[in-house]
Amino acid sequence: MRLAGKKIVLGLTGGIACYKVAELTRGLTKAGASVHIVMTQSATQFITPVTMQALSGNTVYTDQWDARIPNNMPHIDLTRGADAIVIAPCSTNFIAKLAHGACDDLLSTLCVARPHHVPLLIAPAMNVEMWLNPATQRNVTQVKADGIKVLGPAAGEQACGEVGMGRMLEADQLLTEIIASFQAKTLAGKSVLITAGPTFEPIDPVRGITNLSSGKMGYAIAQAAWEAGADVTLISGPTALDAPYGVRKVQTQTAQQMHDAVMVELAAHHQHVFIAVAAVADWRVANASSQKIKKTSDSDTPQLQFAQNPDILASVAALAEPPYCVGFAAESENLLEYGAVKRAKKNVPLLVGNIGHHTFGKDENELVLFDVNGHKALPRADKHTLAIQLIQEITQRISK
Ligand code: C5P
Repeated sequence: MRLAGKKIVLGLTGGIACYKVAELTRGLTKAGASVHIVMTQSATQFITPVTMQALSGNTVYTDQWDARIPNNMPHIDLTRGADAIVIAPCSTNFIAKLAHGACDDLLSTLCVARPHHVPLLIAPAMNVEMWLNPATQRNVTQVKADGIKVLGPAAGEQACGEVGMGRMLEADQLLTEIIASFQAKTLAGKSVLITAGPTFEPIDPVRGITNLSSGKMGYAIAQAAWEAGADVTLISGPTALDAPYGVRKVQTQTAQQMHDAVMVELAAHHQHVFIAVAAVADWRVANASSQKIKKTSDSDTPQLQFAQNPDILASVAALAEPPYCVGFAAESENLLEYGAVKRAKKNVPLLVGNIGHHTFGKDENELVLFDVNGHKALPRADKHTLAIQLIQEITQRISK
C-alpha cells in the first residue's frame, strides 16, 4: 500500500496505449491511491469512460462543462487536494498544449489551473516520427524546463508497425515511477553499487554448487536506492527476478565473476556506497571438469577439491579510498554476537545481520544493524519496507 492516502488525477489523451492505463488504474488503486480519471474526447475513442469508472471506482470526467461538480468548475475542483496529476498516455498534441499553456478542454485547462505544488507527470506515447519531430522535441524540452516530469517513452515495436522511440512505458513501470515520485531524493547525485543473489560455482558444465539466496533483499535495496534518486548498479548472481526498474544490472554467475564485475564498476565510476548483499560462495571447485562427470560404477564418487573465493566485501573495504561499505551477515544463531564480530573482521562501517534460513526465499525479513555505536533492530516487515528503512539509515550515516 505504498500510495495509501494519495489522491491521483489520472488524465488520458488519445492513443492506443490507453489500454495499458486500465492496468495502471488497477495498480494505483491496489497500491492504496484514490484515482480520479479525466479523459479527452480522443481518449474515449480508445477506451470507454465506463471501463475507467469501473476500474477506478470514481466518476470519470470528460467535459469542462460537466454540471455534476456543484460549482460547475471541474477544471479547478478536481485537482484541489490532489497529490499528483499523471497524464498517460500523453499524446504529441497534448505535450504541445502543455508547452504553450493551452486550455481548450477539461484536461488541458485542469493542468494549467493546478495548484503550483501539485506535481504533473506525463507518459508520452506516439509514433517514432512524431516523437523525433523537432517541434515535439522542442515541446518536451520546454515542459521539462517548466518542471513537468516526463516518464519515458521507451523504444520498441509500435502499434503502427514501425519501430523506435515513442512506446509508452508499461503499467508496472509507470506505477514504479509514480511511487518513486513521492520519495525524497536523499541520494540524488550519489552512485550505489550492490551485489545480490547467490553465486553458482560449476562442478562440471551441467552441475554446480549454489545456495538458497533468492536475491529479493538485494533487489529491493537496489529499488529503494533508485527511488531515493541514486544511480544504481546491481551486480547479480543467478536469480529468477527481473532487474529492478531504473537500475543497471550486470549478470554474473561465479564469485570470481562477481568480484571482477564489482572491481570493473569501481574503476569505471566513483561509487559513494557499496552494499554487499550477495550470498557469495566461500569456495569454488578447484578441479571442475570441462565435460560432464560420468558415473562409471556403483561405488565411484567424484573427488571434489576446493579453493577459496575472493572476499569481495573485504577487498572493496581494503581499497585506498573505499566507498561507504555495507556488509550483510546471514547467520543461523547468535546473531548479536556474530554480527558485531563480523563487522570488525570485515572492517566495514555498517553490517546488517539477519538469520539466513528465516530470510532466504521469503518476502519478509528482520534486520539488525551493527555500527560503531552498537546495534539497532529493524523489526519484521516485508523486504521493500526494510530496504527503504536501510537506505534511510545509510543516507543518515553518509551525510554526517
Ligand atoms: O563472511 P560472510 O560470508 O558471512 O560475510 C558476508 C558478507 O560478506 C556479505 O556482505 C557478503 O556479500 C560478503 N561476501 C563477499 N565475498 C565473499 C563472501 C562474502 O562479498 N566471498
